[in-house]
Amino acid sequence: MQALVLLLWTGALLGHSSCQDSSGSPQEDSPAPDTTGVPVEEEDPFFKVPVNKLAAAISNFGYDLYRVRSGLSPAANVLLSPLSVATALSALSLGAEQRTESTIHRALYYDLITNPDIHGTYKELLASVTAPEKNFKSASRIIFEKKLRIKSSFVAPLEKSYGTRPRILTGNARLDLQEANNWVQAQMKGKIARSTQEIPSEVSILLLGVAYFKGQWVTKFDSRKTSLQDFHLDEERTVRVPMMSDPKAILRYGLDSDLNCKIAQLPLAGSMSIIFFLPLKVTQNLTMIEESLTSEFIHDIDRELKTIQAVLTIPKLKLSYEGEVTKSLQEMKLQSLFDSPDFSKITGKPIKLTQVEHRSGFEWNEDGAGTTPSPGLQPAHLTFPLDYHLNQPFIFVLRDTDTGALLFIGKILDPRSI
Ligand SMILES: *[C@@H]1O[C@H](CO)[C@@H](O)[C@H](O)[C@H]1NC(C)=O
Repeated sequence: MQALVLLLWTGALLGHSSCQDSSGSPQEDSPAPDTTGVPVEEEDPFFKVPVNKLAAAISNFGYDLYRVRSGLSPAANVLLSPLSVATALSALSLGAEQRTESTIHRALYYDLITNPDIHGTYKELLASVTAPEKNFKSASRIIFEKKLRIKSSFVAPLEKSYGTRPRILTGNARLDLQEANNWVQAQMKGKIARSTQEIPSEVSILLLGVAYFKGQWVTKFDSRKTSLQDFHLDEERTVRVPMMSDPKAILRYGLDSDLNCKIAQLPLAGSMSIIFFLPLKVTQNLTMIEESLTSEFIHDIDRELKTIQAVLTIPKLKLSYEGEVTKSLQEMKLQSLFDSPDFSKITGKPIKLTQVEHRSGFEWNEDGAGTTPSPGLQPAHLTFPLDYHLNQPFIFVLRDTDTGALLFIGKILDPRSI
């Protein structure tokens, strides 16, 4: 009976039937199709701040990338920091002529931004999300085939806005791999393992995006309460994994009756937060939740969740990803970059995108900034205790709360990370 009341309560709060639009387009609230590119609704003041608007655009690219990536391997964990991929693409667009530039800009949703200085704003965004207190590292690089002469008119703005220099391959596979590994180690302070995958010899343009995050909860978990517990992989299979727990956790919560999932948000040190989407039933099919993810939807959730006290359990996690997102990008709106793009602002030679690599590492354990909940969190009065157990497949979204930027997104089907 009480659960039903809560369901109606949150269903009303999180009413967003339009979010089920399978295109996942952030423009889903636009009433008519003939308003292409023109936001019709009164915009939330949050998105009027240029850096937040840009963060929303590239995060929407990130949700798109996540959906495609997840769809390509429905039975595997997904871990992505789409920001690093978006950064590499945005930087690459500095070298693109009009047709190619607008292909990249459409994929990054820049066509919905009126700000004339996107690259300058991007610099501001990067500085904000990689500030030392965030514990979040992200870096991107553009690597070109050997013997390429690159125009200085491309190098200078690239360095100015994105703080990166283009890299030209030597053609010596061992040296090139070593150099790439050294760069990753330097950027990520040794947190990401060295790669053994050689850089392919037929590279024309390779984008490399790397990211690392170590979660620092605002309230740390008591490690004496961590124990081996069941995680339900699906209706039949169960594995034992170390689970952290807090019998009196303060979190922000809502039950979404459209998506049939329980949403919870936990604060992290450095103005970051993580939002969990946990289906009501054990299922590996998280498609419905995935399709609703947009910057605007997440922003609305963030405003609607209510602070409560709950019995919380979370698996300890340490995940890493190393691989290509080339195929995912090709399935987005970017195929032409791999065919015959116009990068004549970079060099006179015809070059095209051949590969996009992503490496990321992500972990959280009991560590946190303090032992008491932050004073801003005051639970609403609930007459019954609430359980929030992340002991079955779930999705998480890690955001910077200052700008709303999506920093990491993951689908955890098996926390053992195999
Ligand atoms: C997953 O769920 C969606 C919608 O709920 C459905 O359309 C799709 O067929 C399901 N996929 C699988 C593999 O069961």
